Amino acid sequence: MCIQALNLPAKQQELALKQHLDDKVRFDQQVENSKSYVLPFIEVTKKITADTTVFEVGTGEGGVLLPFIERGAKCLGVDLAPERIALANDFLKDEIAAGKVSFVCQNIYDDDFLERHKGGYDIIILKDVIEHVPEQQKFVNYLKNFLRPGGQIFFGFPPWYMPFGGHQQVCRTKWVSVLPWYHILPRPLYRGILKMAGEGNNIITELMEIKDTQITIEQFERIAKNSGLKILHKQHYLINPIYKYKFGLQPRKQTPLLSWIPFFRNFVTTCVYYTIG
Ligand SMILES: C[S@@+](CC[C@H](N)C(=O)[O-])C[C@H]1O[C@@H](n2cnc3c(N)ncnc32)[C@H](O)[C@@H]1O
Repeated sequence: MCIQALNLPAKQQELALKQHLDDKVRFDQQVENSKSYVLPFIEVTKKITADTTVFEVGTGEGGVLLPFIERGAKCLGVDLAPERIALANDFLKDEIAAGKVSFVCQNIYDDDFLERHKGGYDIIILKDVIEHVPEQQKFVNYLKNFLRPGGQIFFGFPPWYMPFGGHQQVCRTKWVSVLPWYHILPRPLYRGILKMAGEGNNIITELMEIKDTQITIEQFERIAKNSGLKILHKQHYLINPIYKYKFGLQPRKQTPLLSWIPFFRNFVTTCVYYTIG
């Protein structure tokens, strides 16, 4: 679950990124990033129209779905975090009332969820989610149950070996939130640095979970292949598009040569987008 900025001491609040403190800022960043990057990327292989059905797993505050709703698509967002689903229900209350989108806080492995949504979606979106999920091969195989014939799945995620692939930016203490690559150290060392910096148990637990579920570009491509789906479109980024909204950095695509070099590319690629189907 993403860390919510509740009850933080004032000094730590100052240091934390503003999107970790302000739910509306985070929602607006999701919307802008989706409108400018996610939706156009998906549309390279699948046109979004009023007939399209979209299912976002790990929807958070639901902002990624808004540009799809504005295109007339019928959307569903699911998240395991009740407080984030509550925010999605609030930010998109008009769209919910109009029957354009619904949000549920449920485990997609529940039998009744599968029964209700089996074979129902043209597009499934997982943005910044696959790196939080255990047993990723089983998970991707399972997602296929929700696709309509010809349906496609979008993934956007930071490869584990990129400078901040451990998600250390969520740390409350400045120096550990900006220190690159220490997340790839052995577990006791990584945990020790976080403890030394004074990070709380909830953050350390979250970061250790991400260490357990880490994913590389090569692992992802193998999972896609083993699922029986084809890679329809991909883009590797030197600078993740979301950094434009989080840090004011200009997004940059990875150079084709670096993008092609197995393993090394993970260290210099802050984000990848894939559509499989
Ligand atoms: C980093 S946030 C991404 C939120 C949003 N997609 C975005 O791009 O801003 C990851 C979200 O995935 C959710 N999540 C992780 N595993 C999940 C699962 N198995 N089913 C549903 N949601 C999950 C978490 O609760 C969290 O809200």
